Amino acid sequence: MKTRTTLKLSAIAASFAALLTATAATGQTFPPLAPLPPVSPPKDNPQSPEKIALGKQLFWDARLSGDGSMPCVSCHLPALGWGDNNALSRGYPGTKHWRNSQTIINSAYYNKLFWEGSVTSLETQAAAAAEGGIAGNGDPSVMEMRLRFIPEYVESFRKVFGAEWPRMNDAYRAISAYQRTVVSDASKVPFDRYMNGDKKALNAAQKRGMALFNGKAGCIQCHNGALASDQQFHDLGLTDHPGFKDDPLLQVTHRWQHYQKGVSENRYRNADRDYGLFYVTKNPKDAGKFRTPSLREVKYTAPYMHNGVFTTLDEVVEFYDRGGEAGTNKSPLIKALGLTAQQKKDLVAFIEALSMTEPLIHDDPKLPGDYQPLPAPAK
Ligand code: HEC
Ligand code: HEC
Repeated sequence: MKTRTTLKLSAIAASFAALLTATAATGQTFPPLAPLPPVSPPKDNPQSPEKIALGKQLFWDARLSGDGSMPCVSCHLPALGWGDNNALSRGYPGTKHWRNSQTIINSAYYNKLFWEGSVTSLETQAAAAAEGGIAGNGDPSVMEMRLRFIPEYVESFRKVFGAEWPRMNDAYRAISAYQRTVVSDASKVPFDRYMNGDKKALNAAQKRGMALFNGKAGCIQCHNGALASDQQFHDLGLTDHPGFKDDPLLQVTHRWQHYQKGVSENRYRNADRDYGLFYVTKNPKDAGKFRTPSLREVKYTAPYMHNGVFTTLDEVVEFYDRGGEAGTNKSPLIKALGLTAQQKKDLVAFIEALSMTEPLIHDDPKLPGDYQPLPAPAK
């Protein structure tokens, strides 16, 4: 088993090496941007049309949250790029969320999820979302019992998972199967069409932007490979969200998160910023680092960054052009770029070419009807 894994990994490494492109500026090589491969679901959770349909219902169903008001879709709205359009996401009633809601488009491709990469599978992520205090805030045993009293769900779970009753773990597997279908459609992404042979799919400005992306602007150093993310963590020197200093409800969330994530008491009592990767590693050198997000579909996912400080792609490019701001562990790759006004426009035009020409929308599913009493057990 072990040797087989090693062999497979080295084969992947070799095919990557063959694909590496050089950036003019540093001579270093990075996996080039490329069309996305098909999604590969984990072996223990294969896709099926029935499972995907069930997962879609559960993604929309508010009964999978504490007070029955916060389904996944309430913070991941198809019409808002499958995020929500607030700088910091809406939170569970009575709370404020402390981070920007990520899009779930293409989340199937990440090997680490959340801004700090704290979980490594969609299945685990779904549990964290449905049960987390500032998101779904549902008690898993209560949510599971609710599903058992909805006959249509009981039937669907039996068909899909062969278990007598719905179980939360299966619910999370179905939701994940559904999310693995929420991916960019390459036939509608200008960059993918271009790479697949349609040389007219990118206009002149977008092609100039692509050259800047891979060259002078150096974006490829972190936004690389098919996902346009190295899946690594970097501190860009981003300004903190002002609310962390003056919004009491945000401060409550903030400190609660610090407590949950097990930092020292001193840091917890005095928390005034989001330390990102630090919560996972507890290494001070990781404070302020966040996972590089994909640049696919960002045309539809404003505002940007883990704290939503930028509302347009132009603002993001201005930020990179001035070399970011101060940050304790700021990446040496972030430095002033000296782009002209035209070059900034071209860069934005290219980033937009990594998004579909029309937003990816799924219609609302029909949800199962109301709770029904269970018949008394047979004597
Ligand atoms: C209250 C709003 C809210 C609700 C409800 C919610 N989410 Fe999220 N979601 C967020 C926020 C905010 C983040 C980023 C959080 C972080 O990094 O700490 C996120 C992150 C994610 C990610 C990670 C994406 C990535 O690129 O790493 C996935 C996947 C996801 N949510 C799926 C779900 C699912 C499935 C549900 C329902 C079970 C759900 N969410 C419910 C707000 C919400
Ligand atoms: C040192 C690595 C690195 C480099 C170089 C880099 N980025 Fe990023 N990028 C990141 C990280 C990390 C984030 C998330 C930061 C955060 O939220 O704190 C990010 C966020 C973004 C976002 C916001 C995406 C979202 O979903 O919120 C955009 C857009 C973006 N970068 C574009 C660019 C462009 C354009 C360039 C080149 C000028 C570039 N990046 C260069 C690492 C990098």
